[in-house]
Amino acid sequence: MFASPSMGSREASLSTILCFLLLFSLGCKCIASELHATQTAVLKVDASPPLARQIPETLFGIFFEEINHAGAGGIWAELVSNRGFEAGGPHTPSNIDPWSIIGDDSSVFVATDRTSCFSRNTVALRMEVLCDNCPAGGVGIYNPGFWGMNIEDGKTYNLVMYVKSPEDVELAVSLTSSDGLQNLASVTIPVSGASNWTKLEQKLIAQGTNRTSKLQITTNKKGVVWFDQVSLMPSDTYKGHGFRTELISMMLDLKPRFLRFPGGCFVEGEWLRNAFRWRESIGPWEERPGHFGDVWHYWTDDGLGYYEFLQLSEDLGAAPIWVFNNGISHNDEVNTAAIAPFVKDVLDSLEFARGSAESTWGSVRAAMGHPEPFPVKYVAIGNEDCGKKFYRGNYLKFYNAIREAYPDIQMISNCDASSTPLDHPADLYDFHVYTDSKTLFSMKNTFDRSSRNGPKAFVSEYAVWRSDAGRGSLLASLAEAAFLTGLEKNSDIVQMASYAPLFVNNNDQTWNPDAIVFNSWQQYGTPSYWMQTLFGESSGAMIHPITITSSYSSSLAASAITWQDSENSFLRVKIVNFGSDPVSLTISLTALQAHVNAVGSTATVLTSSNVMDENSFSNPNKVVPVKSQLPNAAEQTQVTLAPHSFSSFDLALTQSKLVAEM
Ligand code: AHR
Repeated sequence: MFASPSMGSREASLSTILCFLLLFSLGCKCIASELHATQTAVLKVDASPPLARQIPETLFGIFFEEINHAGAGGIWAELVSNRGFEAGGPHTPSNIDPWSIIGDDSSVFVATDRTSCFSRNTVALRMEVLCDNCPAGGVGIYNPGFWGMNIEDGKTYNLVMYVKSPEDVELAVSLTSSDGLQNLASVTIPVSGASNWTKLEQKLIAQGTNRTSKLQITTNKKGVVWFDQVSLMPSDTYKGHGFRTELISMMLDLKPRFLRFPGGCFVEGEWLRNAFRWRESIGPWEERPGHFGDVWHYWTDDGLGYYEFLQLSEDLGAAPIWVFNNGISHNDEVNTAAIAPFVKDVLDSLEFARGSAESTWGSVRAAMGHPEPFPVKYVAIGNEDCGKKFYRGNYLKFYNAIREAYPDIQMISNCDASSTPLDHPADLYDFHVYTDSKTLFSMKNTFDRSSRNGPKAFVSEYAVWRSDAGRGSLLASLAEAAFLTGLEKNSDIVQMASYAPLFVNNNDQTWNPDAIVFNSWQQYGTPSYWMQTLFGESSGAMIHPITITSSYSSSLAASAITWQDSENSFLRVKIVNFGSDPVSLTISLTALQAHVNAVGSTATVLTSSNVMDENSFSNPNKVVPVKSQLPNAAEQTQVTLAPHSFSSFDLALTQSKLVAEM
């Protein structure tokens, strides 16, 4: 628009301003489109067989830590929290939380005492009913589980509890909504008066669904009743082994080749008295004392114990990696001169896992239902303890004893040997990294410079955290994907890698971000979870050298592997575009001993409109991989990489030999 001579001066200057605004906005648009101009890149894959190398079968696995209620109130399906009224432990006053009392001071009196029939967890709950005419519905106790129990219509729940009552009494057991208005299941259990404890077992079938239910136990009869070890398990756990099926299914989708457990700092404890002790976590669940994990600040009944972790490894088809406490916590240490009993304790744990069903500890495992040994081939001697005063001394005691008793077990040191050699023997060394996205992106080259001799690297904890990650951003996943392509390339010396932490119950978000977020009944993967699913086929695959030619190559990270499913072979190119420009990419394959078949070739892309986008319960699929066909797939394939994206191109291969025969 231009000002005509007939216009007044005010109108003319208005038009001039508008005109400037228009030109300015056009200019901005031009600058913006210049800033986001499409970049070009050529990625060459040299597929000649002599240059290919097999990636270790163990490369990608998972690290499970009891953190954020990942286990108790998480993958372990037990619905009752503090089932033995033991929280508080043997040396501090017991704590019945989260149990609550139904009734007032005039009708019921509840206290703990030490009259349990279980010698390792002596606390029981004594309930004295004071009322002759008790309120309708009776008086008693209830447990809300871990922020409410997920009770689902038609499902069966197995209740077990230990009760002692000198007089005959009837207990009303029910599952109700948290406000008590919805009754989901109820049953009356008669208890005969006796001076002994009785084990009661009862199936409850839900007549409705409520995600935040509670278990309540009431009576109308005056008298005294003791309770202990009250458990409520859903009947449909994974393989009947006590795990929440839908969370296991998310673990399985990562195709984990190993399971590192049970921590992390959880293994160390703030104080040694609160560290995870395998011996206290095995045997009949009723007899386990439970313990307070003082690093992550919650009580666990230890239903998910050492045996269950070994069982979980087996169920996932993953090699167990047992991280044991080496006599060191965050704040106290056992002097090497006194470490012998701890070494013996660990040898016992290995006999429990690997010994014959006739051995002292193998027989305990067999009695728990697993006569076959569990194949423990890796142990980590502590967690993040390298700098501690007694680490080396203690380490050597464990190392020598284990090497002698189990020569095939691979031992993992806490000391980082990626840039300087270790001063002690080890099969692997542990490497942890939590950092910002730019740093992790650049760390894709970290192991390029590491010595090719000596122990292999176990990158057992990696993640982008803090402001770049929020509660699980696309940005974090892109940097992590770039880092993993670097691990694949260096997998001659990097043997294993796992993201951390794996799980978070959204009611206890102590550590952010995490790979899988859940509550009592829902779960979703963060972008970092989905990113890992695109590395699931890498373990055991062949890796090929690549070169990237582009003026934009500092924003790109890639790798190329060949892998096979049950029917077909694929050449997979994974590439991260860490920058904000789109990239026109040519994938060029040389020395390929097969033909690329467009049919069956696919592109899978993880991206979103904003690099800080996250998934949530309300929008769990905001940032998830999207798969499409790649109809132009050939020896030279043209694709476009979206800004801030992670893409995986699977080029279907037809063996030349087969083609020649056709
Ligand atoms: O993954 C969370 C914590 O980070 C682990 O417990 C510890 O090993 C690391 O410091």
